[in-house]
Amino acid sequence: MNIVILAAGIGKRMHSERPKVLHLLAGRPVLSHVISTARALATNRLIVVVGHGAEAVREAIAAPDIKFVLQAEQQGTGHAVQQALPFIDPSLPTLVLYGDVPLTRASTLRRLVKAAANGHYGVLTVTLDDPCGYGRIVRDCDGRIIRIIEQKDANPWQRQICEINTGIVISPSGRLEAWLSSLKNDNMQHEFYLTDVVERAINDGVEVVGVQPDDIWEALGVNNKRQLADLERVYQRNEALRLLDSGVTLVDPSRIDVRGTLECGAEVLIDVNCVFEGHVVLGDYVNIEPNCVIRETTIAAGTRVNAFTYIDGACLGENVVLGPYARLRSGTILSSNAHVGNFVEIKNAVLGHYAKANHLSYIGDADIGARVNIGAGTITCNYDGVNKHRTVVCDDVFIGSDTQLVAPVIVGSGATLAAGTTVWHDVPAGALALNEKTQIAKTEYARPVKKKA
Ligand code: UD1
Ligand code: CA
Repeated sequence: MNIVILAAGIGKRMHSERPKVLHLLAGRPVLSHVISTARALATNRLIVVVGHGAEAVREAIAAPDIKFVLQAEQQGTGHAVQQALPFIDPSLPTLVLYGDVPLTRASTLRRLVKAAANGHYGVLTVTLDDPCGYGRIVRDCDGRIIRIIEQKDANPWQRQICEINTGIVISPSGRLEAWLSSLKNDNMQHEFYLTDVVERAINDGVEVVGVQPDDIWEALGVNNKRQLADLERVYQRNEALRLLDSGVTLVDPSRIDVRGTLECGAEVLIDVNCVFEGHVVLGDYVNIEPNCVIRETTIAAGTRVNAFTYIDGACLGENVVLGPYARLRSGTILSSNAHVGNFVEIKNAVLGHYAKANHLSYIGDADIGARVNIGAGTITCNYDGVNKHRTVVCDDVFIGSDTQLVAPVIVGSGATLAAGTTVWHDVPAGALALNEKTQIAKTEYARPVKKKA
């Protein structure tokens, strides 16, 4: 089938320079949710009608399977679909989606497509307690849909109708061109309404069928920031339920945010206020304490991420212990049983099995061997002001507290670095490295005292 996504509208009520369909829902543009759903259906042609912010929209969601069509002036939904007609395959039906209605289930759309097989015209409708603002579905005494009337054009009797047009329709394509070109804009908004096609279809003897989604939120659109926030909560609730249903323990399903794809093994526990972004994989028995942000990361079985830890672009082995307050940046690889404690920042570095950096360190551009102990306050000086250099620490090295490793430098296996050492030169295996320092104790010393005012 053909799928036409309408995304040319201005979205004035968002009070934002960003085109409405590019506002983020669960970390990606509202429109990209609609596109994902479209792709989940058997789509032959995917056409996105753009207008306001056309360039920005194109740039944000460009893909080889998407044809963009410009609707230079927004003259209504019927006019918008008309712009797409030259690019559809007339032998297949055309499904119209809205770029600002992001959470429609693919299964619901499949039901609509099925109901409209055999050349029917299908409309996705929903019954609302408060239908104000929407187009109303007018049915005859036999319950057949006979027209859709916009709120602004409706009489008081029609305004009582609670069944509304979601805007999502499917049409046989052969006659769509004739129907659309016969539309008139003699209505309150002076627009060419797609909704008026219903009457054209009926006049041509085409049956119009209505299908309803299982949940009302499937039909809700994003017209303002409140609606965006509401749909974000719906999305997150659904994501939390999906995780619970797959066996993940969420201490509070209303306090997790997944902005991407989160894959979890068995017996995973996620405490409150954690945010997952991009593709994140948690292995069996992984335990995430409260207030962690985890982005584009894979964590192997049995690893524990303690509270307030921030991980971006890392790969963690089994039974690692992290945090509280650890920060792992891109290119961090922690081998199994490594420990990284509070206020330790690691970037583009590998820690070997059972390596430990438990307190207050910066490890950047480094290869740290197995069983290395990194004392508190150890810093890799990886940047000379122009270039980055690598630090290599071989297996079983003991690094005393407050050590600086001035890269490029290699510390041989089993070496010991005394506390407070500045390591400029490579250290042979098994050696003790220290800087000669003196300690003076001045016995004739009086502390300054505070002056009286
Ligand atoms: C439309 C329907 C209404 C339905 C409601 C559901 C019509 C005439 N009315 O009304 O029956 O209840 O949606 O939300 O169809 N768009 C374009 N080009 C245009 C006009 C709109 O691309 O010229 C796009 C918008 O970006 C948006 C969608 O079409 O994604 C709907 O437009 P909008 O102006 O919000 O339609 P409504 O007046 O809400
Ligand atoms: Ca709308």
